[in-house]
Amino acid sequence: MSKHTGIFNKVRAVSALVSNRAKDDPLNITLELTRRCNARCDYCNHWQEQKQTEQDLSDYVAVVRRFRPFSVTVCGGEPFMRKDALEIIRAVVDEPGWRYVSIITNGWFLTEDRAQKLIDTGIDQINVSLNFPDDRQDTDRKLPGLFKRISHIVPWMIARGATVQLNSIIMNDNLEDVVPIAHLAHKWGASVMYTLYSELPADNHGHLFPPDRQAKLFEVIDGLSALKRQLPAVVANAQWYFDMIPTYVSGTVIDGCTAGKKTLHISPGGMVRPCAELPPVAHYTEYDHRAIAPVTCTRCFQACRGEVQAPLTISRMVECLRTGSTPPRAGATV
Ligand SMILES: C[S@@+](CC[C@H](N)C(=O)[O-])C[C@H]1O[C@@H](n2cnc3c(N)ncnc32)[C@H](O)[C@@H]1O
Repeated sequence: MSKHTGIFNKVRAVSALVSNRAKDDPLNITLELTRRCNARCDYCNHWQEQKQTEQDLSDYVAVVRRFRPFSVTVCGGEPFMRKDALEIIRAVVDEPGWRYVSIITNGWFLTEDRAQKLIDTGIDQINVSLNFPDDRQDTDRKLPGLFKRISHIVPWMIARGATVQLNSIIMNDNLEDVVPIAHLAHKWGASVMYTLYSELPADNHGHLFPPDRQAKLFEVIDGLSALKRQLPAVVANAQWYFDMIPTYVSGTVIDGCTAGKKTLHISPGGMVRPCAELPPVAHYTEYDHRAIAPVTCTRCFQACRGEVQAPLTISRMVECLRTGSTPPRAGATV
């Protein structure tokens, strides 16, 4: 179970965040253990890169030591496609110093045995992706039986003390399911972090919102905001992120993405990408996030940028206290 529990931990978390900001270290590093994946989502291109040209990194602790991030997100591809995923997580958790460690997984490989081993690494948060609150999840990921596995293992892990969050994409096809997913998370004892769909990963425009669906999208966002007031520990997004979604979808350019500076992606071979969608820039041993110019990309409004950009106002701090989260909310990454 996470070693980060109790009031003393909250104090350490705040002090780690203050130190992280004072030193201008990255807030979050995403470790892409692999781009390989067992799912076949039509909105993500990782699985189409099965033939990796890069040599998999083995020493992830060296990456953490170099950048000293506030939080580390273990991701992929599907992280459990690597046989050493649990060892990597344990090493990152055990490295001295305070950091919030989470994983994003599609949940397929979470048998009870592997889930228990994952909890035993001391990981802080387990994020399981879910776009539909029923068997349509299987079709979404092209993994028959996936929803059944998720609906068993999520409450099972929570009953064993794990912090579990659902990661959910808001897209045209699941608009009617977005609020029900929050109710399902609540029933399971989990939280949920939403991200707006992006066509960038697979150049798939098919899940975007046609003009005649935008009113429905805005209605759903209002519904989520209301639910967030009612169940602050369940709906984990910053209110600012929800507030900005209609602005973005209506065509206003939102600049100020901090990818490459506050958030870095480390590719399986150790190359730094500012984010999962942008090309590699330099090997992590040569990358200086303070020296590079900010990205000028405004082509998405996924949670990985929106949640980090949410201004740290008094109301945001109150929001974090109410949700029990520490900004930027872990797992808000792709
Ligand atoms: C790329 S996946 C990798 C981790 C793992 N294989 C999984 O499916 O959870 C990380 C997250 O990105 C989300 N994602 C993938 N494609 C996306 C897109 N086009 N727009 C927004 N989120 C996306 C997934 O739903 C998942 O929560």
